[in-house]
Formats: sequence, structure tokens, C-alpha cells
Amino acid sequence: MVDMDKIVSLCKRRGFIFQSSEIYGGLGSAWDYGPLGVELKNNVKRLWWRDNVYLRDDMVGLDSAITMHPKVWEASGHLASFADPFTGCTACGRHYRADHLAEAIWSSKWFESLKRRLANEDNAALALQKWAAGDGKKLAPNLALVQRPEVILSLWKDKRSGYRFVQSEFGELLDGIASAPDGTPHNPCPNCGGQMSEPQPASLMLETFLGPVQETATKTYLRPETAQGIFVNFDNVLQASRKKLPFGIAQIGKSFRNEITPGNFTFRTREFEQMEIEFFCMPGTDEEWHQRWVDERFAWYEKYGIQKENIRLREHEKDELAFYAKRCVDVEYLFPMGWSELEGIANRTDYDLKQHSHFSGRALEYFDEDSKQKLIPYVIEPSAGADRSTLSFLVDAYREEEVRGEKRVVLNFHPELAPVKIAVLPLLKKNERIVETARKLTAELRKRWYTVYDDTASIGRLYRRQDEVGTPFCVTVDVQTVGDEKAPADEKVTIRDRNTMQQVRVALSSVEIVIAKLMDGHWDEIYRDSDWAG
Ligand code: GAP
Repeated sequence: MVDMDKIVSLCKRRGFIFQSSEIYGGLGSAWDYGPLGVELKNNVKRLWWRDNVYLRDDMVGLDSAITMHPKVWEASGHLASFADPFTGCTACGRHYRADHLAEAIWSSKWFESLKRRLANEDNAALALQKWAAGDGKKLAPNLALVQRPEVILSLWKDKRSGYRFVQSEFGELLDGIASAPDGTPHNPCPNCGGQMSEPQPASLMLETFLGPVQETATKTYLRPETAQGIFVNFDNVLQASRKKLPFGIAQIGKSFRNEITPGNFTFRTREFEQMEIEFFCMPGTDEEWHQRWVDERFAWYEKYGIQKENIRLREHEKDELAFYAKRCVDVEYLFPMGWSELEGIANRTDYDLKQHSHFSGRALEYFDEDSKQKLIPYVIEPSAGADRSTLSFLVDAYREEEVRGEKRVVLNFHPELAPVKIAVLPLLKKNERIVETARKLTAELRKRWYTVYDDTASIGRLYRRQDEVGTPFCVTVDVQTVGDEKAPADEKVTIRDRNTMQQVRVALSSVEIVIAKLMDGHWDEIYRDSDWAG
């Protein structure tokens, strides 16, 4: 698995993703999509919309506002309970979600280094002493063990000579190495080892004021999910579209959360984009629909190239479920930092429609023609992140290979996801006929696919450049194409496949039709069939 630093560096170098406001020192956790990144993310969103809206009879779309009536958030429960307890370091000021702290300590740089040291020494006290005087000083300068080694180690020696650390004694080890001067143990900071504060609740809602004068303006919130915009429009969409149950409403849009621990590149940010579906169905059919959506959504990631071994489903435990949810299954991806959520698919029952009916006084019901009765539909919610999906497609596509003794970096994107579909490369930029033919071909192909023209380097280098950004096909125009004094024009071009690096010679007049086949995954067929040469 590629490490995240390589992905971040490739993204910056090749214009996929940049740090937000970089010239001012950057804004933590906010990222800007560059020329190739915006294409990739737009492709993710377009394919999601195509597959979930256009290719189905039972779905319609919506684009609701980011700011909504403040009562929406009372009804949804976000104002009362959308808060993760957080804890801050009294030494370096870093904040962490209290429920993620143990995990953050366990995988912190300093604890990793301490674990290695403990594994290599039979005498734990000696291992701690050496670590505190060496790596500990650099990695966890504010840890009690590093700051007051004599005091901490004297207690340690008394209690635990001959001790060997095992994972189940994680808490005990922390108590032994992180304590206040009066001996009271505390949680150490994953960043510097300092003392963490008592957990406090923090609202994840970002407040904003609508109106020019803050005192009289309406306080509202930037939506923390797009879902509520769908629920409050349930009746409008039902009346306007005349849909019958079961049917769903899809929406793609920005959401905002004051996350305590944003990080891992675009994985967790405070501003992000969601791709959400609320699928309304008859109570009693909800369990079956839920399973269908779990299967469909899992298959969607595989369809666009995510490798089987890097994706899995995780059933939520009963104690993880929101109180109103009947069942929830996460699609997880093996990111460089470990298995993490890509999408959640929840059975939300009739909770949301009931809540909004109650708070707004408007009945959000469905009239069932068969039973001649009104009912409140149940809701299945497949909720995905556009940024997380984009990141998973990037990570999954990354390959490093050796070709004739040289490193080749390839982004092995599914052709429909690739930011640039075709690169037209003139072999000689000083040959007017080659340039003219290549320009003309580029203009034709552009009508259908995002095509670039590049003549700024040697052909080998141009291929590498396109491989690194995942362009599936390069088309080269050369002397044979246009002819010279030695031989007449053959009016053929070379199409090269990014993955196999195989090449086929194709008549200029067939390029468009051949590329259309290649986009559909028919490289082998074209490669075998010489007819395409015209
Ligand atoms: N309406 C349900 C809902 O919002 P969620 O699990 O909180 O559920 C759904 O979010 C998806 O949105 C996640 O699986 C993830 O892909 C994306 N997401 C959530 N918080 C995010 C964040 N801070 N940064 C990036 N993506 C996020």
C-alpha cells in the first residue's frame, strides 16, 4: 500500500490537490482541487449521479440550500446531540476526540518508537530509561517519563521489574509513564506526550449569521449533512414528481463540520462534499431494500476499479447504532492509515420524516392507493463522501513499476474516472504537417472527451507524464502519418494503452470509433484485430 505522503506529493506536483490558502501558510484541513483534481472529483460525482439517478426509474435529484431554517437542526437532533467530546493538550494545544484518543496514542510516532524499544529489551525499566534519554526527548518532550525520568522510573522499578509489555496492558503502561507531579496518572498527548485535559463536549455545527448586522441577523448553521435538505423537501418532490413508493431522492453537495481532529489529507476535513440518497419505501420492505442498497453501493466501487482486497463491509454493532437506526453497514476502504469508512448505509426507519412533521406542523406522509391509507415511509440512506471516494480511487490507482530499469509511476484509473482521457502527441513539433494533423485530431476528439495536446518533451517523457496522471490513451502522430519525400502518408496514428504500454496502429478516420471501444474496455479486441488499421 502506498503511503499518504507519496499521494499528497503527487497530488501537489501534478495539480490534483493543493493545500488551501497555501501562500498565507495554509489553512489546516482545507484543500483545493487543482486542474486534474477537479476533473477527477467531477467524474466521481458524475458517475455516482449517472448510476444512481439516470440509470434507475425510481430516483430523482435535488439541490437544496446549504443554509436552512435553524429549526431543521432542532428537529434532526443535531443541535442537541451532534457533539463529540474532545480533549486538549495543556502543553502543545492540540485537540483530539476523546473517543479517538487511545487509538491516536497507540499509533503516535512516540508510542510506536517506545513499543519498538520495549520489544527489543528484556528489562522494561532499562528500556524506558534509554528511550526517555534518547528518542523520547525528541518525540515526546512533554511526557512525564521524559521530563522526570528518575521519579517515574523509581516507581516503575518497584512495581514492575522483569515486566514485558503486551497490548492488553496499554492503559497500565500509560499510567506508569504519564502522571502529574503528585503521581496522578493522566492521558498523554499523542503529539508531544503532555497532559491532556478532561474531556468536554464540542458542537460540530458551524454557526453563521444571515444578515448584514450581526446583532439582528438570524443565527443559523452551515449544514453538517445534505440529508436534511432532502427530508424537508420530501412532500415537494413527491407532489412535483408524482413518484410512487419506493423511490429515492439523490443530492450532491457541500457539508461542514467543526471536526476536532481533521486530517489524513482529504479524508477528514471541515468542509467536504457528500453524495447522499434518501430512499423511501413501505414499512416492512425496508430490510430488503437496505440489503439491496448495501450490495449495490459495494459493487459501485468495484465497478470503477477499487481492488477487492482493499474494500469490505462492516456491520455496525448494536451499541454503535444511532437510537433511531435499525441497521447500519459501512463500506470501508483500506486507506494508508488503515481500514476507514468510505460510505455508511443506514436504515433510518421513519424517524426523520416524523421529526420534521412534528417540528414543522406539516404532515410528511404518503397516501397508499392500494390500502387507501396514509403512512410514513421508512428511509434507507446510502451516504457517501465525494472527497473520500476521490481519495480512495487515487490511492487504489497508484502503482510504481520498473520498466527497462526505470521507475514508472502510473495512476491506473478506470477510463471513466481518468481526468484526461486522451493525450495527442506530435512526434516532431517542427514538422508542420504533423502538428496540423495532431491539432485537427485533438479538436475532433475534444468534442467528446477531455483531450490534451502536448509537444513539450520527448515522446518517452510525454508518455511518463500521462501515465503519472492516469491518462488511459495516448495518440501519436508521426512522419508515417503525414508522409515525407521518401514515403506517402499512411494516414494512421499510434494509440498506446497506459496499463499494458501496448500500441496499435489505427487509421485516422477510425480513431474516434476505436477510442470509444477502448473506453469501454475492449483493448484486447482492438489489439488483436488488424482491421482497425483501415
Ligand atoms: N447523513 C448521514 C451522514 O452524514 P456520516 O457517516 O456522518 O453520515 C457520510 O457521513 C459520509 O460523508 C462518510 O462516510 C464520509 O464519506 C463523508 N464524511 C463525513 N464526514 C466527513 C469529513 N469530516 N470529511 C470528509 N468526508 C466526510
